[in-house]
Amino acid sequence: MKKRISIGVFDSGYGGLTVLSEIVDRLPNYDYIYLGDNARAPYGTRSFEVVYDYTLEAVKELFDRGCELVVLACNTASAKALRSIQQNDLPTIDPEKRVLGVIRPSTEIIGDLTQTGHVGILATEGTVKSESYVIELSKYAPTVEVVQHACPMWVPLIENHRHDSTAGKLFIEEDVKALLEKDPKIDTIILACTHYPILKEYIESLLPDSINVISQGAIVAEKLEEYLTRHPELNCKLTQTGSLHFLTTESAVEFDKKASVFFGREVKSEHIKL
Ligand code: DGL
Repeated sequence: MKKRISIGVFDSGYGGLTVLSEIVDRLPNYDYIYLGDNARAPYGTRSFEVVYDYTLEAVKELFDRGCELVVLACNTASAKALRSIQQNDLPTIDPEKRVLGVIRPSTEIIGDLTQTGHVGILATEGTVKSESYVIELSKYAPTVEVVQHACPMWVPLIENHRHDSTAGKLFIEEDVKALLEKDPKIDTIILACTHYPILKEYIESLLPDSINVISQGAIVAEKLEEYLTRHPELNCKLTQTGSLHFLTTESAVEFDKKASVFFGREVKSEHIKL
Protein backbone atom coordinates (compact mmCIF):
# COMPACT_ATOMS: atom_id res chain seq x y z
CA MET A 1 0.00 0.00 0.00
CA LYS A 2 1.23 3.50 -0.81
CA LYS A 3 2.36 5.42 2.29
CA ARG A 4 -0.10 8.10 3.33
CA ILE A 5 1.17 11.68 3.37
CA SER A 6 -1.24 13.48 5.66
CA ILE A 7 -2.17 16.91 6.90
CA GLY A 8 -1.54 17.09 10.66
CA VAL A 9 -3.86 19.10 12.87
CA PHE A 10 -2.73 19.86 16.39
CA ASP A 11 -4.31 21.33 19.51
CA SER A 12 -3.67 21.17 23.24
CA GLY A 13 -6.90 19.19 23.58
CA TYR A 14 -10.31 19.01 21.95
CA GLY A 15 -10.59 22.55 20.57
CA GLY A 16 -8.77 21.89 17.31
CA LEU A 17 -11.50 19.40 16.41
CA THR A 18 -13.79 22.38 15.71
CA VAL A 19 -11.25 23.46 13.08
CA LEU A 20 -10.61 19.95 11.73
CA SER A 21 -14.34 19.47 11.26
CA GLU A 22 -14.54 22.54 8.97
CA ILE A 23 -11.36 21.54 7.13
CA VAL A 24 -12.69 18.03 6.45
CA ASP A 25 -16.03 19.44 5.27
CA ARG A 26 -14.24 21.70 2.81
CA LEU A 27 -11.39 19.35 1.79
CA PRO A 28 -12.77 15.82 2.37
CA ASN A 29 -10.36 13.89 0.16
CA TYR A 30 -7.09 14.51 1.97
CA ASP A 31 -5.68 12.28 4.73
CA TYR A 32 -5.64 13.78 8.22
CA ILE A 33 -4.00 13.02 11.54
CA TYR A 34 -5.35 14.90 14.56
CA LEU A 35 -3.25 15.14 17.71
CA GLY A 36 -4.70 16.41 20.99
CA ASP A 37 -2.23 16.85 23.83
CA ASN A 38 -5.04 16.34 26.36
CA ALA A 39 -2.68 15.06 29.05
CA ARG A 40 -0.98 18.46 29.20
CA ALA A 41 -3.95 20.74 28.40
CA PRO A 42 -4.70 23.53 28.98
CA TYR A 43 -1.79 25.42 27.42
CA GLY A 44 -3.38 28.85 27.87
CA THR A 45 -1.76 29.72 31.20
CA ARG A 46 1.63 28.10 30.49
CA SER A 47 4.84 30.01 29.74
CA PHE A 48 6.19 30.70 26.25
CA GLU A 49 8.99 28.15 26.73
CA VAL A 50 6.66 25.35 27.82
CA VAL A 51 4.11 25.94 25.05
CA TYR A 52 6.96 26.07 22.52
CA ASP A 53 8.53 22.80 23.80
CA TYR A 54 5.20 20.94 23.86
CA THR A 55 4.16 22.22 20.44
CA LEU A 56 7.50 21.33 18.86
CA GLU A 57 7.24 17.79 20.27
CA ALA A 58 3.78 17.44 18.77
CA VAL A 59 4.85 18.79 15.39
CA LYS A 60 7.81 16.38 15.25
CA GLU A 61 5.51 13.49 16.15
CA LEU A 62 3.15 14.40 13.33
CA PHE A 63 6.07 14.73 10.90
CA ASP A 64 7.32 11.28 11.99
CA ARG A 65 3.87 9.89 11.27
CA GLY A 66 4.00 11.10 7.68
CA CYS A 67 2.56 14.60 7.82
CA GLU A 68 4.04 17.02 5.32
CA LEU A 69 2.01 19.95 6.61
CA VAL A 70 0.84 20.65 10.17
CA VAL A 71 -1.87 23.13 11.12
CA LEU A 72 -1.60 24.42 14.67
CA ALA A 73 -5.34 24.55 15.32
CA CYS A 74 -4.63 26.26 18.61
CA ASN A 75 -4.31 30.01 19.06
CA THR A 76 -2.06 29.65 22.09
CA ALA A 77 0.42 27.47 20.21
CA SER A 78 0.14 29.68 17.12
CA ALA A 79 0.86 32.73 19.28
CA LYS A 80 3.71 31.29 21.30
CA ALA A 81 5.43 28.69 19.16
CA LEU A 82 4.63 29.05 15.45
CA ARG A 83 7.17 31.71 14.51
CA SER A 84 10.09 29.98 16.30
CA ILE A 85 9.20 26.63 14.74
CA GLN A 86 8.91 28.15 11.26
CA GLN A 87 12.10 30.20 11.51
CA ASN A 88 14.41 28.14 13.72
CA ASP A 89 13.29 24.51 13.66
CA LEU A 90 11.89 23.77 10.22
CA PRO A 91 15.13 24.60 8.36
CA THR A 92 16.94 21.87 10.34
CA ILE A 93 14.09 19.34 10.66
CA ASP A 94 13.04 19.46 6.99
CA PRO A 95 12.91 22.70 5.02
CA GLU A 96 10.21 21.29 2.74
CA LYS A 97 7.69 20.63 5.48
CA ARG A 98 5.26 23.35 6.53
CA VAL A 99 3.60 24.47 9.77
CA LEU A 100 0.71 26.95 9.66
CA GLY A 101 -1.28 28.66 12.41
CA VAL A 102 -4.78 30.03 12.94
CA ILE A 103 -4.11 33.67 13.87
CA ARG A 104 -3.03 35.02 10.50
CA PRO A 105 -6.01 33.58 8.56
CA SER A 106 -8.35 35.23 11.06
CA THR A 107 -6.64 38.62 11.15
CA GLU A 108 -6.50 38.77 7.34
CA ILE A 109 -10.29 38.95 7.13
CA ILE A 110 -11.33 40.76 10.32
CA GLY A 111 -11.20 44.17 8.63
CA ASP A 112 -13.95 43.06 6.22
CA LEU A 113 -16.23 41.86 9.00
CA THR A 114 -16.63 44.99 11.12
CA GLN A 115 -18.81 48.01 10.32
CA THR A 116 -17.90 50.08 13.39
CA GLY A 117 -14.19 49.29 13.13
CA HIS A 118 -14.21 48.00 16.72
CA VAL A 119 -13.33 44.33 17.24
CA GLY A 120 -13.20 42.26 20.43
CA ILE A 121 -10.92 39.28 20.94
CA LEU A 122 -11.81 36.58 23.48
CA ALA A 123 -8.87 34.24 24.04
CA THR A 124 -6.66 32.45 26.54
CA GLU A 125 -4.30 34.41 28.77
CA GLY A 126 -1.34 33.24 26.68
CA THR A 127 -2.82 34.44 23.40
CA VAL A 128 -3.83 37.81 24.90
CA LYS A 129 -0.43 38.38 26.53
CA SER A 130 1.41 37.51 23.31
CA GLU A 131 -0.39 40.48 21.65
CA SER A 132 -0.36 38.40 18.45
CA TYR A 133 -3.81 39.59 17.37
CA VAL A 134 -2.93 43.24 18.00
CA ILE A 135 0.36 42.89 16.07
CA GLU A 136 -1.18 41.01 13.12
CA LEU A 137 -4.20 43.34 12.94
CA SER A 138 -1.93 46.37 12.80
CA LYS A 139 -0.63 44.88 9.50
CA TYR A 140 -3.87 43.68 7.90
CA ALA A 141 -6.43 46.14 9.28
CA PRO A 142 -4.52 49.11 10.73
CA THR A 143 -7.63 51.25 11.24
CA VAL A 144 -9.44 48.63 13.34
CA GLU A 145 -9.57 49.24 17.09
CA VAL A 146 -8.97 45.95 18.86
CA VAL A 147 -9.79 45.13 22.47
CA GLN A 148 -8.75 41.84 24.06
CA HIS A 149 -10.07 39.96 27.05
CA ALA A 150 -8.54 36.82 28.54
CA CYS A 151 -10.87 34.04 29.71
CA PRO A 152 -8.62 31.71 31.74
CA MET A 153 -11.54 29.66 33.07
CA TRP A 154 -13.12 28.77 29.74
CA VAL A 155 -10.79 26.01 28.48
CA PRO A 156 -10.74 24.16 31.83
CA LEU A 157 -14.55 24.45 31.98
CA ILE A 158 -14.89 23.10 28.43
CA GLU A 159 -12.27 20.34 28.81
CA ASN A 160 -14.09 19.18 31.94
CA HIS A 161 -17.50 19.53 30.36
CA ARG A 162 -18.65 22.07 32.96
CA HIS A 163 -19.34 24.99 30.62
CA ASP A 164 -23.07 24.23 30.66
CA SER A 165 -23.33 24.31 34.46
CA THR A 166 -24.78 27.33 36.28
CA ALA A 167 -21.34 28.27 37.61
CA GLY A 168 -19.76 27.81 34.21
CA LYS A 169 -22.33 30.04 32.53
CA LEU A 170 -21.72 32.73 35.13
CA PHE A 171 -17.99 32.82 34.36
CA ILE A 172 -18.70 33.07 30.65
CA GLU A 173 -21.25 35.85 31.11
CA GLU A 174 -18.86 37.87 33.30
CA ASP A 175 -16.10 37.66 30.71
CA VAL A 176 -18.35 38.64 27.81
CA LYS A 177 -19.62 41.64 29.81
CA ALA A 178 -16.06 42.61 30.74
CA LEU A 179 -15.06 42.68 27.06
CA LEU A 180 -17.98 44.94 26.11
CA GLU A 181 -17.31 47.26 29.04
CA LYS A 182 -13.82 47.82 27.62
CA ASP A 183 -15.34 49.03 24.33
CA PRO A 184 -19.12 49.32 23.84
CA LYS A 185 -18.64 50.04 20.09
CA ILE A 186 -17.55 46.46 19.36
CA ASP A 187 -19.67 44.91 16.59
CA THR A 188 -17.50 41.83 15.92
CA ILE A 189 -16.19 39.35 18.47
CA ILE A 190 -13.58 36.77 17.43
CA LEU A 191 -13.60 33.53 19.38
CA ALA A 192 -9.80 33.40 19.31
CA CYS A 193 -9.47 30.03 20.96
CA THR A 194 -10.45 26.90 19.09
CA HIS A 195 -12.29 25.54 22.13
CA TYR A 196 -14.74 28.46 22.19
CA PRO A 197 -17.03 27.61 19.23
CA ILE A 198 -18.68 25.17 21.63
CA LEU A 199 -19.89 28.27 23.55
CA LYS A 200 -20.94 30.28 20.49
CA GLU A 201 -24.68 29.86 20.89
CA TYR A 202 -24.60 30.79 24.57
CA ILE A 203 -22.37 33.81 23.93
CA GLU A 204 -24.73 34.98 21.17
CA SER A 205 -27.68 34.69 23.56
CA LEU A 206 -25.94 37.20 25.84
CA LEU A 207 -25.43 39.76 23.09
CA PRO A 208 -27.60 42.03 20.92
CA ASP A 209 -28.11 40.89 17.30
CA SER A 210 -25.94 43.76 16.11
CA ILE A 211 -22.83 41.99 17.43
CA ASN A 212 -21.41 39.27 15.21
CA VAL A 213 -19.65 36.34 16.90
CA ILE A 214 -17.05 34.68 14.68
CA SER A 215 -15.59 31.14 14.96
CA GLN A 216 -12.34 30.48 13.17
CA GLY A 217 -12.86 26.99 11.74
CA ALA A 218 -14.45 27.94 8.42
CA ILE A 219 -11.97 30.80 7.93
CA VAL A 220 -8.98 28.50 8.52
CA ALA A 221 -10.42 25.87 6.17
CA GLU A 222 -10.89 28.42 3.37
CA LYS A 223 -7.38 29.83 3.83
CA LEU A 224 -5.91 26.31 3.86
CA GLU A 225 -7.56 25.54 0.54
CA GLU A 226 -6.12 28.75 -0.90
CA TYR A 227 -2.69 27.86 0.52
CA LEU A 228 -2.72 24.43 -1.11
CA THR A 229 -3.71 25.97 -4.42
CA ARG A 230 -0.82 28.44 -4.16
CA HIS A 231 1.60 25.62 -3.28
CA PRO A 232 1.19 22.84 -5.85
CA GLU A 233 4.65 21.48 -4.95
CA LEU A 234 3.29 20.64 -1.48
CA ASN A 235 -0.23 19.77 -2.58
CA CYS A 236 0.94 17.10 -5.03
CA LYS A 237 2.80 15.27 -2.22
CA LEU A 238 -0.34 14.93 -0.06
CA THR A 239 -2.23 11.67 -0.53
CA GLN A 240 -5.99 11.79 -0.91
CA THR A 241 -7.65 8.65 0.43
CA GLY A 242 -9.97 10.51 2.80
CA SER A 243 -8.64 8.92 5.99
CA LEU A 244 -8.94 10.39 9.49
CA HIS A 245 -6.72 9.28 12.34
CA PHE A 246 -7.04 10.64 15.89
CA LEU A 247 -4.28 10.62 18.51
CA THR A 248 -4.46 11.73 22.12
CA THR A 249 -1.89 11.86 24.91
CA GLU A 250 -4.68 11.11 27.45
CA SER A 251 -7.00 8.12 27.68
CA ALA A 252 -8.43 7.20 24.26
CA VAL A 253 -11.71 6.10 25.87
CA GLU A 254 -12.14 9.50 27.52
CA PHE A 255 -11.16 11.29 24.30
CA ASP A 256 -13.70 9.36 22.23
CA LYS A 257 -16.47 10.15 24.74
CA LYS A 258 -15.94 13.92 24.59
CA ALA A 259 -14.50 14.46 21.12
CA SER A 260 -17.73 13.98 19.17
CA VAL A 261 -19.20 17.15 20.75
CA PHE A 262 -16.38 19.14 19.13
CA PHE A 263 -16.04 17.17 15.91
CA GLY A 264 -19.74 16.69 15.28
CA ARG A 265 -19.40 12.95 14.59
CA GLU A 266 -18.07 9.80 16.23
CA VAL A 267 -14.33 9.60 16.89
CA LYS A 268 -12.12 6.56 17.47
CA SER A 269 -8.73 7.57 18.81
CA GLU A 270 -5.41 6.00 19.75
CA HIS A 271 -3.40 6.86 22.85
CA ILE A 272 0.20 7.95 22.32
CA LYS A 273 3.02 9.26 24.51
CA LEU A 274 4.94 12.36 23.48
N1 DGL B 1 -7.67 25.63 21.74
C1 DGL B 1 -6.55 26.35 22.33
C2 DGL B 1 -6.47 27.74 21.72
O1 DGL B 1 -6.97 27.95 20.62
C3 DGL B 1 -6.73 26.26 23.82
C4 DGL B 1 -5.54 26.58 24.57
C5 DGL B 1 -5.44 25.93 25.93
O2 DGL B 1 -5.12 24.74 25.97
O3 DGL B 1 -5.58 26.65 26.92
O4 DGL B 1 -5.86 28.64 22.26
